[in-house]
Amino acid sequence: MSQTSISQEVDKRRTFAIISHPDAGKTTITEQMLLFGGAIRQAGTVKAKKTGKFATSDWMEIEKQRGISVTSSVMQFDYQGKRINILDTPGHEDFSEDTYRTLMAVDAAVMVVDSSKGIESQTEKLFKVCRMRGIPIFTFFNKLDRDGRDPLDLVEELEEVLGIDAYAMNWPMGSGRNLLGLYDIYNNRVQVHDPDQYEDGRDSLDLDEEGEILGDHPIKTDAQYGQTLEEALLLKEAGNDFDREKIMAGDLTPVFFGSALTNFGVQNFLDAFLEFAPKPSAQADKNRRVIQPSDPNFSGFVFKIQANMDPRHRDRIAFLRICSGQFERGMDVTLAREDKAMKLTNSTSFMAEDRETVTKAVAGDIIGLYDTGTFQIGDTIYSGKEGVEFKDLPQFTPEIFMKVDPKNVMKQKSFHKGLEQLVQEGAIQLYKTYLGNDYIVGAVGQLQFEVLEHRMKHEYNSDIEMQPIGSRIARWIDPDQLDEKMSSSRNMLVKDRFDHPLFLFENEFAMRWFSDKYPDVELRSLL
Ligand code: G4P
Repeated sequence: MSQTSISQEVDKRRTFAIISHPDAGKTTITEQMLLFGGAIRQAGTVKAKKTGKFATSDWMEIEKQRGISVTSSVMQFDYQGKRINILDTPGHEDFSEDTYRTLMAVDAAVMVVDSSKGIESQTEKLFKVCRMRGIPIFTFFNKLDRDGRDPLDLVEELEEVLGIDAYAMNWPMGSGRNLLGLYDIYNNRVQVHDPDQYEDGRDSLDLDEEGEILGDHPIKTDAQYGQTLEEALLLKEAGNDFDREKIMAGDLTPVFFGSALTNFGVQNFLDAFLEFAPKPSAQADKNRRVIQPSDPNFSGFVFKIQANMDPRHRDRIAFLRICSGQFERGMDVTLAREDKAMKLTNSTSFMAEDRETVTKAVAGDIIGLYDTGTFQIGDTIYSGKEGVEFKDLPQFTPEIFMKVDPKNVMKQKSFHKGLEQLVQEGAIQLYKTYLGNDYIVGAVGQLQFEVLEHRMKHEYNSDIEMQPIGSRIARWIDPDQLDEKMSSSRNMLVKDRFDHPLFLFENEFAMRWFSDKYPDVELRSLL
């Protein structure tokens, strides 16, 4: 493909993640989007897959037919001339460092919030990573079909807890049974909730200059309508201004309300989102070389490695975000870390099976590389003569820690080898105690320990034993301030794999106690 046609393809790409606290409605809204894009035909399919109610074979058939892979972590579909990649950020027990790292591979994020609950802990964590990257964040307050919290309250909490300005794109006219519709501030109209209950059956009503519904409509006699008008006016006068630049920089979040389950306000949201969500942009690499997405040379980085938990298969898939050029199966590339030439033969794209689409994987798209131990998290691969090496992916502060030992002390060698490789790959973080050289592994989610145990056993033939050590907080210190006497049972002193010292604190209280005792020692977290 020529540079121009690559550039035309890139312009169509919109790559984003949906972040939320478990149960806020991420799966439901994803499914509605897939329905709009024609990628699935029936509501309940993704959900059924998630809960295992759907026969796998049926599911695989759907995947094959539609060329999407909902079971995997990337969902791709076409909608209104755009090619959309949604990257999954698993919650619940599947939460891991990979969840955070996925956010390094997207150009925007959609934050789904349960409007009866407000901002919850997991949303907050994922939001922070998006914020650090400075990508646009779009908020969808979900479950409007239920009685929720006061919308003004919700938006205020969003701004306060997350420290971001909000701009209401639309405003709910009631909720639950009293949901009249959405007052669409951005498009100057009212979207009627249940148009069939009114004589004229219109689902969209225009507004006059005062912001009132034009002409007659029964909604105008409802007390809720008056209240919404008042609130909308208040927002216009006292709220933040709409500012596209601030949205693009992730400093202002456009806020939408709706109900994913009853499919109210979702299309409105998706249309507005696609109007603003950015296409893939240029990226600077470690050597400050700026890589344009339309550059004919291929480049990309590995942001996630998914282990195959099936004992019959040892392989794993490395997920690569394309940053430039065009992917072709079998292409020659270089693995930057080792300056090693390789062929991308064993790869998969998350798109339709037909040749035409496969040849069009460009910047913004994700490909899966079958891997038997070649790749590490953060690896760059590129084609062409000029070397590219994207910046290292950040490390995230673990929150759960285990002491790890080989079950069989005679098998120290495979234990060390396995642990070292899995740590290098980015599956888990490893620490050693100063006293006794014990091994401690750290993770952001329980799943990482399960993957570690499984892979140690199946790939390195090493059974391991893990014991929780009761620490919850990791904080790094300046090596010059290190004094082994500072270590106690409540703040275990360890070093990371780069030999940097850190403390593992039992809880906030233990950390405060430490800071009071050693006020000069600065405690630093990763992200
Ligand atoms: P998640 O992926 O963020 O974890 O959430 P998911 O979409 O699975 O939704 C969690 C629960 O919330 C589901 O109910 C789902 O049906 C419900 N839900 C999602 N969006 C809405 C909405 O707009 N309104 C209402 N009222 N409910 C919504 P569940 O009981 O856990 O599952 P199910 O048995 O109903 O499928």
